[in-house]
Amino acid sequence: MTNAALLRWQQLRRAAYRRLPLFLSDYIDGGAGDELALQRNRLDLDAIKLRPRVLRQMTDVSSTTEILGCECSMPVVVAPTGLNTLIARNGDVTLAQAANRAGIPFILSTASFTPIRELRAHVDLPPWFQLYAQNPALTEHLVRQALLADCPVLVLTVDTPTGGIRWRDGRNNFRVRPSRQMMAQTLFRPRWLSQYLIGELSERLRPKRQQLSDDLLERKLDRSFDWDDCARLRDKWPRRLVLKGILSAEDAARAATMGVDGVVVSNHGGRQFDAAPSSWRVFSEIKQAVPAGMTLLVDGGIRTGDDVVRALALGAKGVLIGRLPLWALAAGGSKTLDAMFLSLAKQIIITMTLLGCQSPREVDSSRILEDWPG
Ligand SMILES: Cc1cc2nc3c(=O)[nH]c(=O)nc-3n(C[C@H](O)[C@H](O)[C@H](O)COP(=O)(O)O)c2cc1C
Repeated sequence: MTNAALLRWQQLRRAAYRRLPLFLSDYIDGGAGDELALQRNRLDLDAIKLRPRVLRQMTDVSSTTEILGCECSMPVVVAPTGLNTLIARNGDVTLAQAANRAGIPFILSTASFTPIRELRAHVDLPPWFQLYAQNPALTEHLVRQALLADCPVLVLTVDTPTGGIRWRDGRNNFRVRPSRQMMAQTLFRPRWLSQYLIGELSERLRPKRQQLSDDLLERKLDRSFDWDDCARLRDKWPRRLVLKGILSAEDAARAATMGVDGVVVSNHGGRQFDAAPSSWRVFSEIKQAVPAGMTLLVDGGIRTGDDVVRALALGAKGVLIGRLPLWALAAGGSKTLDAMFLSLAKQIIITMTLLGCQSPREVDSSRILEDWPG
């Protein structure tokens, strides 16, 4: 097999950073505090070793699966990331369309500048919608919009009662209304600056969305939001509901008792709480605490096909990818996104073939070496 169609994530990341001003590459890459949680995501993931089985007729390997009622070409979902339209012109639409073409779901973030109904007009498959609890009226409005846009899954992010401390964003004076420091950095990236000035200025000046993203960047989140509010949301939202940002078995079990359909085991890509464990370290205890029917997704550091298959072996139905598609978006837009998704799908097939598994269903915990402490 040739490696011609395969892309290394390091290559994508380098290409992205040649295009982006520093405040954006730092915004994407950065983590909370001293970035230890961010590092743990990769270190713990790297430590998971999988035992291959051989001589098993690997003639019909397929990565297709179903996640929360959605048919997926591979067990991968594009994670919600805010401010995608700063990274590239029409960033949300470009990402969502590429995810559509790749046959996987895209999650639109509350912190995006693109209204749900506008995104919906540009894609065949409705996106999932990620909700940050802000003031109740706004939350209700967003839930209604998600219903009207046919979003099949609502993803409530629960690990943000306040914003994490991100030193890199502080150093760059990063905010939605550009600071002088940000403007100075853009001068070193003329290509980014010109597309930004042409395309995004008008979008960014929409008063409502600007306010919403400003509030999120300044962390005006609803700190009073609790399990009762979550139960009320469950009553209001008739379709699949997922909690994102769960790291404790007790919280996962409680979510299951109130009829939540799934959780994303996640430390928010290491961006919130630096003392938090990696999702990998706590995944197994969470898996044991929830009923078999609950969908478990996981994220934090996924870069390769091996990583996706490691998550399946732990017992996840699928993974979310955050930084990987953002690097592809910044590096070359639609074309590079298509190449990245194709490369990831190929890598997953190669990993499954080497492991001796014909479908994601066949990848289970028996493949994990006993020296994994998680
Ligand atoms: C630039 C950036 C913005 C993000 N914005 C959001 C967001 O608006 N809502 C949310 O729930 N998670 C957000 N996240 C977290 C991702 O959804 C996801 O949990 C994380 O990126 C996964 O780790 P990975 O980037 O290593 O794949 C963001 C992550 C990044 C990198």
